Amino acid sequence: MDDSQIVLVKRDGPLAVVTLNRPEALNALSPALLSALCDALEELNADAEIRAILITGSARAFAAGADIRAMVDQTPADVLRADTLAYWKRLRSIDKPLIAAVAGYAFGGGCELALQCDLIVAAETASFAQPEIKLGIMPGAGGTQRLAKAIGPYRAMELILTGEPLTAREAYDLGLVNRLVPPERLLDEARQLAMQVAAQPPIAVRLARQALRHGVEHTLHEGLEVERRNFTLLFGTHDQTEGMAAFLEKRPPHFTGE
Ligand code: CAA
Repeated sequence: MDDSQIVLVKRDGPLAVVTLNRPEALNALSPALLSALCDALEELNADAEIRAILITGSARAFAAGADIRAMVDQTPADVLRADTLAYWKRLRSIDKPLIAAVAGYAFGGGCELALQCDLIVAAETASFAQPEIKLGIMPGAGGTQRLAKAIGPYRAMELILTGEPLTAREAYDLGLVNRLVPPERLLDEARQLAMQVAAQPPIAVRLARQALRHGVEHTLHEGLEVERRNFTLLFGTHDQTEGMAAFLEKRPPHFTGE
């Protein structure tokens, strides 16, 4: 397939839907796919109209991991030179809310891509795994860290050392998944959740998200510092004045993003 179609972007008011479109390899995250995904997300991140970004795959696979064909003959020097991990740094720098809508396999890098997102909506057909151990490697795009934080170190250790998958229901019960829905409802439910976020004042969304993510990645003390700084900053926004005035005047707020 022509690489220009490897990632599809559809705008829907304040929401953008980004679809991974490499069905012949179950959306395996080849350098071309990761590059197109980063380009698409960076463009949407810079677009003031867009307030939330939904990432999805196909019914069969969200993404089946890094591309094994591209890795099979690699030496450590090749891995360093190719620097595919640089794509993951680019993904991490997106500061708009990311919502993963997962059906089918979210394996390896696919699971790590879902873990990069802020909210995960899963179809009952979804499964999550870090199967790298079965290939003689280990997760390399955040899996050892984010999965442990998301579901606890013991369950994460089991998944990473056995490579066995979690069903969507198990992932939901462990708190990895925000909504568990029938497959035919996946995009509608994910869209509804994303629209709810997109309707909130964007600077408050951005700073709240930043504080939460900072706290997950750093100490409680550092997280609290960022929370206090961001809380204070929000009192300089139009949307804070508007949100509180609207509450007191018993009317819906009109947020402008300023
Ligand atoms: N890389 C490259 N190609 C892949 C792929 C991957 N990760 N996953 C699937 N494919 C390809 C298959 O080779 C196959 O291609 P052909 O038809 O040309 O043979 C096609 O996609 C369909 O796959 P299957 O026939 O295997 O489909 P299945 O339904 O029988 O099995 C599956 C699905 C269980 C997901 C199986 O494909 C599988 O185990 N895939 C590999 C999953 C994996 O190990 N991911 C981790 C990769 S390493 C990583 O991600 C590192 C990191 O942390 C960044």
